[in-house]
Amino acid sequence: MSAQPLKRTVQSGSFSSKSQRLRGNPMPTNPALYPAGRATFMDGNRCSPKNKVHLSPSEIPTLRVSRPIRIQTEHPCVLVWYEDGCKSSLVDKYLHDGEPTFKEVDTNLIYCCIKDGVTIKYDGDRFVTDGLSTDASMLSSWWRNLVAPVQIADNDGRPYITTDGGIGCLRVGVGTFNAVVVIPSEQLPKWLPKQCVVRFTRPDVQSSNEFMYQNYQTTFGELLNTLFASLNDIGPAIYSVAVFNAPRTGRTLRFGVVYTMEVAHRDLGKSLKSMRSFNDGCTAAVGCIELLYKASRLGIAFFDIKPGNLLEFIDESNSTKRATYKLTDFDPAFFIRTKNRDWRSLLLLNLALLSAHVYALNCEEEVIRGWATEVTPLLQQLVARRDEYESSWLFLARCANLKFRQALDDSDFELQRMFTSICESYFYGERRRGTIAHIWHWKRKSENNEDLKKHWSTAKNIDSWPETWTTAESEPLVVQLVKMSTCKSRR
Ligand SMILES: Nc1ncnc2c1ncn2[C@@H]1O[C@H](COP(=O)(O)OP(=O)(O)OP(=O)(O)O)[C@@H](O)[C@H]1O
Ligand SMILES: [Mg+2]
Repeated sequence: MSAQPLKRTVQSGSFSSKSQRLRGNPMPTNPALYPAGRATFMDGNRCSPKNKVHLSPSEIPTLRVSRPIRIQTEHPCVLVWYEDGCKSSLVDKYLHDGEPTFKEVDTNLIYCCIKDGVTIKYDGDRFVTDGLSTDASMLSSWWRNLVAPVQIADNDGRPYITTDGGIGCLRVGVGTFNAVVVIPSEQLPKWLPKQCVVRFTRPDVQSSNEFMYQNYQTTFGELLNTLFASLNDIGPAIYSVAVFNAPRTGRTLRFGVVYTMEVAHRDLGKSLKSMRSFNDGCTAAVGCIELLYKASRLGIAFFDIKPGNLLEFIDESNSTKRATYKLTDFDPAFFIRTKNRDWRSLLLLNLALLSAHVYALNCEEEVIRGWATEVTPLLQQLVARRDEYESSWLFLARCANLKFRQALDDSDFELQRMFTSICESYFYGERRRGTIAHIWHWKRKSENNEDLKKHWSTAKNIDSWPETWTTAESEPLVVQLVKMSTCKSRR
């Protein structure tokens, strides 16, 4: 599988994840979604007792506050709406939590950081810059000089550090665009916490001879998103950010970024691969549902969500050592702050995408089964009760081969287009041939491609979908994604 990264590709093109090597091609069984209003486990057992009278979706009240949650010891699950047997209901939690408070980032800080080359630093409960400081590390040139000696090379999609430039840095992770390392604390400013990692733009060139340095818009957007995620507790705590110019002859001005941030235990991909049991898979899913609930409440549609972009944190001081999760990698092309979208539609989008990646991950079957057992009732509820929240924008997207194009805004059409092209790039596009996700029986893909070609041949239709797409036989893409990621077996 070619591993050409196309994040940062602003025009059309496809892209692929390097973080996942999908192996084997077992044929999945054909699953069917379970009846509306009922949550069903992977093994077919309902969460609710057999003799329970089920209400039709329209009869089930959306918001329930007064009813105590009954915990079933057998296997309680998290649901969106309360049903017997669920551990907790997110709608109850939403009512309890109240409207989310957004901690916003002062964009002037980011202008100063990029234009004047001053370091942004976390100070108590906010980010600050100090252009008058005599501390050299408050200037971005100090950070550029720190990481400049580190060299990275790419061996057919396996990046490695060729020289640490004598600073004694140790690799933590290298992604498509960034390297994450530990640098001995003696080399770092005293005002940083002892434990932190340094994440910086990779200095090497891609196979296409492109540098990883980014243009102004992308750099600005990524900084804004990263600081927003840190302040609102859905991303790792950021301690400092510096941006430096990386001029290259004959190119527009490009920027490199150096962050210092909270150390994660590992990413979710590595964590899932190291797990062995069904319960491990369940526990990871519960932690991720908690995170995605928080992110969705904040209006986040994270199209690049995948196990490599979720970080696992373990609180060693807590006796349970329970893992919590945070998002990472906030490229503005993929991390979109939507306005006025129902959080449940965003939860469905984020969790369905993540679960599809988990389904395709090369790890123990039992772990995947545990994950799917936990997310299945919740995803199925969100599909079955789609009329009870504003979800039409998501359910209109269909399976088709669309090339990636950065969303121009957060309109229905742009988000639907983005969703379709992401699924093409990660799951059913040509570049995924031979993977477990590619061989899933994606419905009406070629018919939809034909419909689209005809529809878009008329200029006025260029930002709309064919009307026939709302008919029943043309199954929503999100429903197909849910069916794949909750299917009972990957064989
Ligand atoms: N704070 C952290 N603590 C520990 N490990 C981290 C941290 N941040 C990132 N990593 C590790 O480094 C890897 C690469 O980081 P990141 O996702 O930020 O790079 P990227 O180049 O933007 O990734 P992609 O390939 O998704 O574009 C992650 O998958 C993770 O394994
Ligand atoms: Mg990443």
